[in-house]
Amino acid sequence: MDGNGRWAESRGKARSEGHLAGTEAVIRTVENAFRAGIQCVTLYAFSSENWNRPAEEIQALMGLMLRFLAEQKNLFIKNKIRLRTIGDLSPFPEAIREAVEAVKAETSAFSEHTVAVALNYGARDEVLRAAQLYATDVRSGKLSGDTAPAWEQFSKYLWTDGMPDPDLIVRTSGEIRLSNFLLLQAAYAELYFTDVLWPDFDKAELDKALAFYASRERRFGKTSAQIQKDEH
Ligand code: FPP
Repeated sequence: MDGNGRWAESRGKARSEGHLAGTEAVIRTVENAFRAGIQCVTLYAFSSENWNRPAEEIQALMGLMLRFLAEQKNLFIKNKIRLRTIGDLSPFPEAIREAVEAVKAETSAFSEHTVAVALNYGARDEVLRAAQLYATDVRSGKLSGDTAPAWEQFSKYLWTDGMPDPDLIVRTSGEIRLSNFLLLQAAYAELYFTDVLWPDFDKAELDKALAFYASRERRFGKTSAQIQKDEH
C-alpha cells in the first residue's frame, strides 16, 4: 500500500493525512475484493523497517491502526471476516496488541473471508523465526531433523500458516520491488505494479489488477502445452 506520503505531500498535506486516506482505500479495497470473490487479502501495513520512520509518523500510524480496529470491528463480525496478523506484535503498544487480539479472538471461527494485516512484518524475520522454531522441535525430538523438511512441513512455522499463498501481489505508486513482503509465499504469485498511489486505489484500479491476473497463464513450472492440455 505504497504512496500515502506522496499523495499527501502533493496536496500540501501532512503525511499522516495520506495514511488516513490510505485507511479508506483499505476498507473499500477489502470490500471490493471480497465482492469479486477473493477469499484472503493480506495488507502490508507496517514493515519491520518502518520503525525507522519519524516518531510522529509512527505515532500517527499507530493511532490509525487503533481507530481502524475500533471502527471496523463490527464490520468484521457482521461480514464474518476473520482478522489475522503476520509479524511480531511484541514491540507494539499494549493498546494496539490488545485491540488486535480482541478482534482476532472474536473472528477466529470465521473461515470464508480473511484479512491478514502484516504488522512489524519482514520476510527475512519470518524465515529466521521459522528456522528457530523448527530447530527447537528437532532438539525436543518432535521432528527427526535427519532429512530436509518438505515445504508443507516447514511452512507451518511461518506466520502465514493456514493461509493460501498469494495468487496476486499488487504494489502501488510505481515502485517495482517486493520490499521483504511474503518472499517465500510469493514463489508463484503474479506481480502487478501500478503507478496509482494507494489512497487513489479504487474499484476501477482493482478491476485492472484482476484483469491483469486473469490474463496470465499460471504454469507452476510446467510448459504452456501441458497447462492447455490440463485445462481441456
Ligand atoms: C506506504 O506509503 C504506506 C505505509 C508505510 C503505511 C500503510 C498504512 C495504511 C494504509 C493505513 C493503516 C493500515 C491499516 C490496515 C488500517 P508511504 O508512506 O511509504 O508513501 P510514500 O512512498 O509516498 O512516502
